[in-house]
Amino acid sequence: RRSPPCVLVIFGASGDLTARKLLPALERLAGYGALPAEVALVGVARTPMSDAEFGDLCRRSVSGEDHPRWRDLTSAARYVHGDYDDPATHQRLAEVLAECDHRHGTAGNRVYYLATPPRLFGPIATSLGKAGLSVPAGDGFVRAVVEKPFGWDEASARELYAELSSAFTEEQIFRIDHYLAKETVQNLLALRFANSIFEPIWNRTWVDNVQITVAETLGVGERGGFYETTGAMRDIVQNHVLQVLSLFLMEPPTSFHPEAIRDEKVKLLRAIQPLDEEAEIAANAVRGQYTRGGTREDLMPGYRDEPGVDPLSATETFVAMRLEVQNWRWTGVPVYVRTGKRLPARLTEVAMEFRRPPQLPLFPGRGQGLEPDALVVRVQPDEGLSLRFGAKVPGHAFRVQKASMDFSYESFDEQSPDAYERVILDALIGDPTLFIRADEVGRSWRIVDPVMRYWAADERPIPLYQAATWGPPEADSLIARDGRSWRHSS
Ligand code: BG6
Repeated sequence: RRSPPCVLVIFGASGDLTARKLLPALERLAGYGALPAEVALVGVARTPMSDAEFGDLCRRSVSGEDHPRWRDLTSAARYVHGDYDDPATHQRLAEVLAECDHRHGTAGNRVYYLATPPRLFGPIATSLGKAGLSVPAGDGFVRAVVEKPFGWDEASARELYAELSSAFTEEQIFRIDHYLAKETVQNLLALRFANSIFEPIWNRTWVDNVQITVAETLGVGERGGFYETTGAMRDIVQNHVLQVLSLFLMEPPTSFHPEAIRDEKVKLLRAIQPLDEEAEIAANAVRGQYTRGGTREDLMPGYRDEPGVDPLSATETFVAMRLEVQNWRWTGVPVYVRTGKRLPARLTEVAMEFRRPPQLPLFPGRGQGLEPDALVVRVQPDEGLSLRFGAKVPGHAFRVQKASMDFSYESFDEQSPDAYERVILDALIGDPTLFIRADEVGRSWRIVDPVMRYWAADERPIPLYQAATWGPPEADSLIARDGRSWRHSS
């Protein structure tokens, strides 16, 4: 796959996201020929810099070898500095873009990547609109790529949508959730719809419960300031968790057209009953915050001791919830989701536990206590899939023990592209499948908003958990109440 002729304009070109993710991804794309000579790069930011200095910054940000296409792309890179909402900045940008079209044959096509703090998305879009830079020339294209968070709640997401739409149509807006670009998340589609053996058991008749875990061992590190206003619910649940959940549980799409897939995802999100009543929220949503913990050799600071964090902060670094999908396929099957920072393992997985066989007593005392059969999709690390089931232990006694059939992505020779490589190339090509549509954003906020409001008004202290443990005890009670337990909780 190759990009069509286009100028990629990065707003926030001197920032952290550009250096850490975008430039290394561009270098790899250039390396395998996905960025032909008719692709040009323009950086926009407030830091004063010359074109040549920006080119140097691009090359310094990557560790790969200095291959010719990357050298050409970065040597020809242009840089515009100024305030994002100053008309003069956009006037200058318009001139630079016209020069790129002339020099590189970029045909009036533009992709604006907004790698800035989210509060600038609206002002940048509005200024691009006013400068006449958001309208495609002829049958060319102009797209705007934005990263989560898409708003802070449903109301602010709507305001952001209004600002973006003052300049761009919905088809021009590409909202990134980098989880959708992970190989294993995409494999959910192959697993479910390229095989016939799974789909017949993918429903309430066979499935007892679903568990989605996004666990991180890292703390908030240097991002304390950002995290204080975000928290785990907005950072991970509203987007990554609900996106993975909807792909895992949605109905088969009528085609693999991007809109057909997005239609099914939003239908699934609509079937999740938001927890509206206070008692319902208290029973089905748990938050937590990490305190100092670990081992004597590896002692990790508590959240409130991290730089940029209020010493009395009540921001959640852990969330567990019990959700229900009220539709023909899933009614009655609880979906437990869990995410947290400073948990004992870095692990993202989606697991489906199956109902117990009706006649377990056939093996009295020999099969009890066994974990239920399960299908586990490991999103990361050790990308792969396991089917877990009971097998007889060899010997005279009739003892049943858990066994597992495993598939690992390592068995393929091909390398997975990095998530940013994929989303940048998709945005250049114009494939919106892995991007989130406005109605999905709104519906996801509708699910998390009531819980956030309830927690904001809750005067009880936030439950705590020690770093390197699986969250506060309340999370265990939430699932134990149903007679079940979290996978990986010891
Ligand atoms: C980001 C969150 O969206 O996802 C971070 O803002 C989190 O807080 C990260 O660490 C996790 O992504 P990954 O790809 O490392 O699982």
